[in-house]
Amino acid sequence: MKFFAANWKLYKTPSETRDFFGKFLEPASKILNSDTQTEILFFPPAVNLEAAVQSTKGFKVQVGAQNSYFESEGAFTGETSAQTVKTIGGTWILLGHSERRKLFAESDELIAKKFAYVQKLGLKPMLCIGETLEERESGKTLNVIQKQLSLGLAQANANQPFAIAYEPVWAIGTGKVASLEQVQEAHAQVRAELTAKGYSVETPILYGGSVKPDNAKALIQIKNVNGFLVGGASLDAKSFLEICQA
Ligand code: PGA
Repeated sequence: MKFFAANWKLYKTPSETRDFFGKFLEPASKILNSDTQTEILFFPPAVNLEAAVQSTKGFKVQVGAQNSYFESEGAFTGETSAQTVKTIGGTWILLGHSERRKLFAESDELIAKKFAYVQKLGLKPMLCIGETLEERESGKTLNVIQKQLSLGLAQANANQPFAIAYEPVWAIGTGKVASLEQVQEAHAQVRAELTAKGYSVETPILYGGSVKPDNAKALIQIKNVNGFLVGGASLDAKSFLEICQA
């Protein structure tokens, strides 16, 4: 199975969301109908979730939120309810993206709580991990991966599906994609950690960080790369389709 996930960050209005799917869904259906081993998912901004769910009705694509809180309702101003995401038809929740960690001070402990809650609701969390440039240059990459995985999955349920997105922070939105060797090494480490902790061998490990139509083909061939989490290049229907065809 290969997973192609679009992280739209804080881009697109509801009408731009509908426009995107107007262009994307018909050609994407050709891929999805001829290849049952491909899954395509979208993480639009929360205010566009309903537009995304409605526009994709009847198509084999999944929609989810970029973040959610570990309570379904209450006095939590500004948060997104995973329960509501589920109610409107979302199936995935992205958690621990490096922008959430850095700009919104999310800790591994908070991410772990959210992860467990998302699984409890029967939704699928996608946990993002990855090292900063400083951590890579000081030789700490594999330690960071191990630590983020072990803390982020501290309350995970091994019997419920989830995904990992390995995204080196220095490769996100920079145009600097990790080398094939760096991706191979990191994904092998993630797979080894997951296996050692008893998680399913089917748990997908996605690569993210400046994935573009012209580097997707080489990256998808790497062992333990089960798909991509794509930011910038997923905003345009044509370029994301090309990546999904990789
Ligand atoms: P990018 O973003 O593809 O624009 O580098 C990836 C991400 O932040 O998930």
